Amino acid sequence: MLKKISHVAFAVVNMDRACEFYREVLGAKIVGRKEVPEQKSEVAFVEMGGTAKLELISPTSDDSPVKRFLDKKGPGIHHICFEVDGIEERLHYLHDHGVRLVDDQPRTGAEGDKIAFLHPSSTLGALVELTESSKD
Ligand code: CO
Repeated sequence: MLKKISHVAFAVVNMDRACEFYREVLGAKIVGRKEVPEQKSEVAFVEMGGTAKLELISPTSDDSPVKRFLDKKGPGIHHICFEVDGIEERLHYLHDHGVRLVDDQPRTGAEGDKIAFLHPSSTLGALVELTESSKD
């Protein structure tokens, strides 16, 4: 079911400083920085040569879900994303097996791929995102 890790996401308070840290200090490449209005957040991806990326997320308003996360837990790991095939069927399967879903149906993620979140109460405490790549 799980093909590989797509990305690990970090919630950050200041996107400029986070991008600068990864670019200037750690020597990574920042790609795909943009606002995601429906999530009231801004995202950027850190590329490292392999297939897995780091996703940086910061809130763009006080009622952003990312702002609530930062207020509650502070900056740090926000979710892990696994790539799957046939995301709709996967969600049905998980639902049928009692897994609590944040998204019953896939929606379009920041990179244009289909994504859906599973609730941490069903995934041993970590917020899990599934994605189906539109590229292959
Ligand atoms: Co993500």
